[in-house]
Amino acid sequence: MKDYLSVVIKPTLYCDTDCRHCYHTPEERVKGSMSLATVENIMRLVSEEYEAAWFIWHGGEPLTLPLSFYKEAIALEEKYFGKGSFRYGNTIQTNGLGLNRRLMAYCRQKQINIGVSYEGPFNGVLREGDASKAIASLSDKDNKYSASATISAETALRQKEIYRYFRGRNTDVSLSPVIPAGCARCGGLVPDPDDYIRGSIEAFDDWLLDSGSEIPLIPHYLYVLNYLGEPVPSDCAHTSCLTKWICVNPDGTVYPCAKACPPEFRMGNINDAASIAELFRSEGFGNILRGSVERREKCRGCEIYRYCGGGCSMDFYHECGIENNTGDSCRIYREIFAHVAAEIQKILDEKPDMGRYNRFIRDAVIGKLVNPKTVIQ
Ligand SMILES: C[S@@+](CC[C@H](N)C(=O)[O-])C[C@H]1O[C@@H](n2cnc3c(N)ncnc32)[C@H](O)[C@@H]1O
Ligand code: SF4
Ligand code: SF4
Repeated sequence: MKDYLSVVIKPTLYCDTDCRHCYHTPEERVKGSMSLATVENIMRLVSEEYEAAWFIWHGGEPLTLPLSFYKEAIALEEKYFGKGSFRYGNTIQTNGLGLNRRLMAYCRQKQINIGVSYEGPFNGVLREGDASKAIASLSDKDNKYSASATISAETALRQKEIYRYFRGRNTDVSLSPVIPAGCARCGGLVPDPDDYIRGSIEAFDDWLLDSGSEIPLIPHYLYVLNYLGEPVPSDCAHTSCLTKWICVNPDGTVYPCAKACPPEFRMGNINDAASIAELFRSEGFGNILRGSVERREKCRGCEIYRYCGGGCSMDFYHECGIENNTGDSCRIYREIFAHVAAEIQKILDEKPDMGRYNRFIRDAVIGKLVNPKTVIQ
């Protein structure tokens, strides 16, 4: 058995809103949902080959499907992985418009994480729909979600404000830039890289010395762990995601990534496959692998390759071609990571009063200082 697979399931590509930046175009976001037979094939094949799996329900908008769909899908997970076996977990990634107390109570009962794509005070910049009303309708007990804030040209320099907004609500938040895919190819939405870098570093510096903060700021916290020698698989762009993720569309077609993937990377159909290993032997997977290897060859001389791993293949595909590392995402990572690494190294060298730092930094750094063999110098 292999260890672990992350499985993005798009149970529908349909969406009840129309974000300006969405990498799925309106022509793709059409009605139609995944059959339970397809869900069952996913569960059966993954459980036969992997010790554990994390399922991310994505789309389109997953909450345009009724709660009854998720109850049936979770029952299939329990059937194949063993109820309460700790072999599986779930996240629903939603635009938040369909959140309600009944759904949240069910998710709490089944320990399903909820990720809401939401930029707080700047939500209207990219999104037509406003999740704040649905979020406000949740009881305190059920109001547990993490936010994914997508940063556009307009909000690139407002990232610290976005951090502060979610920090004030004790809601975990991750920040990531609009990539030039799908609707975002039209222009005007992708942040200027210098603005993005500046805004991201401002948010990190604020979080770093925010001793009362109860939230990890993502991706910066993952960069800290990576620098300290604990790379986290959820940072898929910098932990060699290939062979560790698949994405299944409503009709069962499989791709290596949840971001807008072109047909040349199609790995086959889960309903026709005898195993997940067979999907990884497909021509489509070979295509993304070859492109990524070619790009990574160009990265070999890079001083931070061991942390970056050559970046996200799909971001580069859309920015500059998969086999090239000349896109903005290279420079953005390089500069933000260099800043984060310098701050952490300064702490390791100077051993200042750790009370000044947020508790995530305190725990990560102190953990390494008491076990100096693993400190990266
Ligand atoms: C495609 S949506 C699907 C799930 C759900 N509808 C939602 O909005 O969370 C998943 C995430 O992709 C992000 N996204 C969509 N298009 C993007 C783009 N061009 N660049 C960066 N992120 C994008 C969205 O902001 C959202 O956080
Ligand atoms: S980002 Fe999500 S909510 Fe927005 S249009 Fe795309 S699928 Fe719908
Ligand atoms: S920072 Fe750029 S050059 Fe360096 S490994 Fe990452 S993608 Fe390659």
